[in-house]
Amino acid sequence: MTKSKVLVTGGVGYIGSHTTVELIKAGYDVVIVDNLSNSEISMLAGVERITDTRPIFELVDMTTLSDLEAIFKKHPEIESVIHFAAFKAVDESVENPVKYYRNNMISLLNLMRLMVKYKTKNLVFSSSCTVYGTPDELPVTEKSPIKKSVTPYGETKQMAERVIQDTVAANTHINSIALRYFNPIGAHSSGLIGELPLGIPGNLMPYITQTAIGKRSDLKVFGNDYDTPDGSAIRDYIHVVDLAKAHIAALKRLNESQNQSNFEVFNVGTGNGHSVIEVIQSFEKMSGIKLDYTITERRAGDIPKIWGSTKLANKGLNWHVEKTLDEMTESAWKWEQNLKKGFK
Ligand code: NAD
Ligand code: WQD
Repeated sequence: MTKSKVLVTGGVGYIGSHTTVELIKAGYDVVIVDNLSNSEISMLAGVERITDTRPIFELVDMTTLSDLEAIFKKHPEIESVIHFAAFKAVDESVENPVKYYRNNMISLLNLMRLMVKYKTKNLVFSSSCTVYGTPDELPVTEKSPIKKSVTPYGETKQMAERVIQDTVAANTHINSIALRYFNPIGAHSSGLIGELPLGIPGNLMPYITQTAIGKRSDLKVFGNDYDTPDGSAIRDYIHVVDLAKAHIAALKRLNESQNQSNFEVFNVGTGNGHSVIEVIQSFEKMSGIKLDYTITERRAGDIPKIWGSTKLANKGLNWHVEKTLDEMTESAWKWEQNLKKGFK
């Protein structure tokens, strides 16, 4: 039986590389397009060591339609697309909105144009819990209101969902699932692939591991006066491998025509919230390293707490998280130590 071919955009990146591993393990053929704007090609060596398979890699900037079209022509047997490629730094999107609107929207529009033209069947899209803004009720469900976005990054996710919804309504050969990720952290248990933040990390987990390894000395907890048990903000942290597996489950749903409409949305979190202090404590326990940190002012734009209901994904995707917070922090630490050894 020939293997089903999947185009993975942004497949060299953090979530894309972990998903590529799971796709290969599930028997898919993978073609990656990535322009390496926020990733390093060496990540594919890690994928290859884990799976014994080197996915096809095409150096393509998705904002150039003709370059992306060349991939559809070269690989006519592509049946499905998982679209990760985007810029994702929330603060940077506020400082440079045009960069974000241009990259995230033009990439998607080019992709949609080509999926229509080449009659591609399935699309799984990387959306984000950011579309819920500050939620009125917890946990957030897929029916929770979409709030007006406060950042250009968040706006690109809301607009992208709309673009996909409208495109598949008019082109019913395409079936799509948008996965709204909560906060992915951690790394593959092998320690061979993981997150590669460029510059000073904005996100909590890489800041913690870089502090522990000695690259940073000023870990801050942004606020301890929230209405939460320990006063620090709460998020729904999800292990990146659990998140990767949700993509395989989404593709299966589409391939087996189990979807109830040709645009569906699923939350992908754990259903549990953890505070910043809890993440730090878990890291300290799993690494045996005591972290120095200071409590500072709240970070502008942060919401106090969010976690998602995963009931719909549990049922509709037949997918459940397997990993604990301790496994998330432990694997993130293993990856950081391997990076120091020059592993990537
Ligand atoms: P990442 O930056 O590690 O991966 C994105 C990849 O896309 C990178 O390899 C980058 O080089 C590539 N890319 C960007 N623009 C491109 C273009 N024009 N053409 C080709 N390649 C391009 O990010 P990630 O954390 O793996 O995130 C993947 C997706 O998930 C993004 O769409 C992001 O918005 C979304 N998401 C991420 C998080 C998170 O916390 N990491 C949370 C929710 C949603
Ligand atoms: C987590 C918590 C911080 C750093 C972002 C995007 C969101 C989604 C996921 C893409 C917060 C606190 C952080 C630090 C800290 N991405 N913190 N000290 O902001 O929940 O979500 O990534 O779609 O859209 O906004 O993640 O990791 O930055 O922060 O105290 O040095 O850790 O205040 O409470 P966030 P984060």
